[in-house]
Amino acid sequence: MRERAGSHLAPLLFLLSVLATAPAAAREAAVLYRDLCAVCHGPDRLGASGPPLLPQTLGRRSEADIVRIVREGLPATRMPAFGDLLEAEEIRDLVRYLRRPPDKPPRFGMAEIAASHRRFVAEEALPDRPRFAADPLDLFLVVEKGDHHASLLDGDRFVRLARFPTPRALHGGPKFTRDGRFVHFASRDGWLLRYDLWGLQPVVKVRAGIATRNIALTPDGRFLVVADTLPRAVVVLDAVDYRPVEVIPARGADGTVSRVAAVYQAPPRGSVIVALRDVAEAWELVPAADPARRRLRRIPLPEPLDDVLFDPAYRLLVGSSRSSRGAWVVALGDGRVVARLPIEGFPHLASGVTFVRDGRRLLITPNLTRPEVTVVDMEDWRVVARIPTLGPGFFARSHRSSPHVWVDVFAGPHRDAVHVIDKRTLGIVATLRPAPGRRSAHIEFDREGRHALVSIMEEDGAVVVYDDRTLVEVARIPARHPSGKYNVGNKIRFEEGTSH
Ligand code: HEC
Repeated sequence: MRERAGSHLAPLLFLLSVLATAPAAAREAAVLYRDLCAVCHGPDRLGASGPPLLPQTLGRRSEADIVRIVREGLPATRMPAFGDLLEAEEIRDLVRYLRRPPDKPPRFGMAEIAASHRRFVAEEALPDRPRFAADPLDLFLVVEKGDHHASLLDGDRFVRLARFPTPRALHGGPKFTRDGRFVHFASRDGWLLRYDLWGLQPVVKVRAGIATRNIALTPDGRFLVVADTLPRAVVVLDAVDYRPVEVIPARGADGTVSRVAAVYQAPPRGSVIVALRDVAEAWELVPAADPARRRLRRIPLPEPLDDVLFDPAYRLLVGSSRSSRGAWVVALGDGRVVARLPIEGFPHLASGVTFVRDGRRLLITPNLTRPEVTVVDMEDWRVVARIPTLGPGFFARSHRSSPHVWVDVFAGPHRDAVHVIDKRTLGIVATLRPAPGRRSAHIEFDREGRHALVSIMEEDGAVVVYDDRTLVEVARIPARHPSGKYNVGNKIRFEEGTSH
């Protein structure tokens, strides 16, 4: 009898014990967090010198992955290893705690943005000429992810002019002012920095979100528009002094809340196009100093498109879908579907480029999940070539005056390879391996389209400069995990062979 009663009670007792210990474990974890993690990740988990630790920002990592990070730390970063300090169980509880939303939902609105604002130097104190002799419109900015710095290269002699710290974990391309003098950086954790390339000094910074995708300047240069995934919003700031103008919650026409995938400047339209991840629409936004006067137009889409490219006139949006892995062409004016592209490899359109061959404009795009570069005719939207590559690619780059398009191999055993494609024959004319066995990716041309620069994306990496006609290496500049590099002249002229 007693035994039967006991076996009856066992599940109940177990449940009771779980209920009793769960809050205690949570408290335990909260204390550990406060004592060991808060100093770098912020008391409210919104991030400080380290990234935010919230379910939304950790979402892409598995529990096992996070446990390993806490136990072993992250090499070559300031994230320490806690394996010797904490029991396996404590680490597991801590990680579960991090994967639960905080008791107080994170708030990040106008007040928080304004409170984060910091000015480093008064506008009046900025120098009236560059502190270097190089042509200020022929500079390259190299983002070095390894130790969160950027380097400024002379685009003529390919030597480093300066190296300076940036916000941690930059994300999306930096954006130059129309005169090329200032650059705006954005970090994954929402920090923006306006940096003076002439005076080689930071000017202002602000935090415009907890998790940010990218930024775009309005074509008139007055506003900076920020794509946030946390909060789910588009943030508009004054592009000069970084005062917040407006936080626009990202909701579809039916009220569905969406992450903001990206924002893009559309110069011929005088607007910014907003790509949304969770709703089937894009926005055309024209900000104003008085939020009541801004314009926001919804463009219906066949499905959510979060990676997009435009024709040079910005009449059409070509976007790829995460769920269907295909791509659509939609008229920005009225949302009319112009074509569905038969590309199945998840084309990375934001890194595709367009060029003219025999009087017709072609679009060339790498695919994130297929070893293929796809070429599409932008008049009839037929696929004109599928060029097999050594692996899925990420970036394609060209220049109006170059006979080539360069594409990287981003995944797989041939990550060290870069293909050079002939714009006329659409065939691969060379496969370069700037550092055998090491990842080479992201290409950018110089202003004249004579040289192509490739990043060796490793901790002790380099930027390798090739002569685009002879394909011979002409310079190699050491850099710490260089990711993107950006030619000031190409970016401010909206050169057709590069992204914007
Ligand atoms: C001395 C500062 C510091 C302390 C203390 C610290 N971290 Fe970190 N942590 C960092 C930095 C910096 C990074 C980002 C590293 C990188 O990728 O550049 C990081 C990254 C992480 C990540 C990966 C997050 C992501 O989105 O990629 C996790 C998870 C993490 N820390 C958990 C913890 C936990 C849990 C604690 C406390 C037990 C802790 N950290 C204590 C500095 C710190």
